[in-house]
Amino acid sequence: AHVIGEPCIGVKDASCASVCPVSCIHDAGDRYGIDPDRCIDCGACVVVCPVSAIAPEGLLPTEWGLQPPPAAQWPAQE
Ligand code: SF4
Ligand code: F3S
Repeated sequence: AHVIGEPCIGVKDASCASVCPVSCIHDAGDRYGIDPDRCIDCGACVVVCPVSAIAPEGLLPTEWGLQPPPAAQWPAQE
């Protein structure tokens, strides 16, 4: 799955959520977050983020804070 790092904090542009084909990106508090169980790794969100906050899990710089929000925060799938 892709993950959203710290550059999103304070920006929360939300373009990523608009382009995600499976609608798995949601406001998760200080930043947006990606539901790892639903992300299909298409990469569409990566290119639209104005602050390049999104990367495949494991490829974000460690100082960005890699942990996605806990699964309990994800809205139920429709
Ligand atoms: Fe959605 Fe694709 Fe981004 Fe995953 S990689 S969160 S499926 S837009
Ligand atoms: Fe955040 Fe970038 Fe999405 S700033 S809300 S990850 S488009």
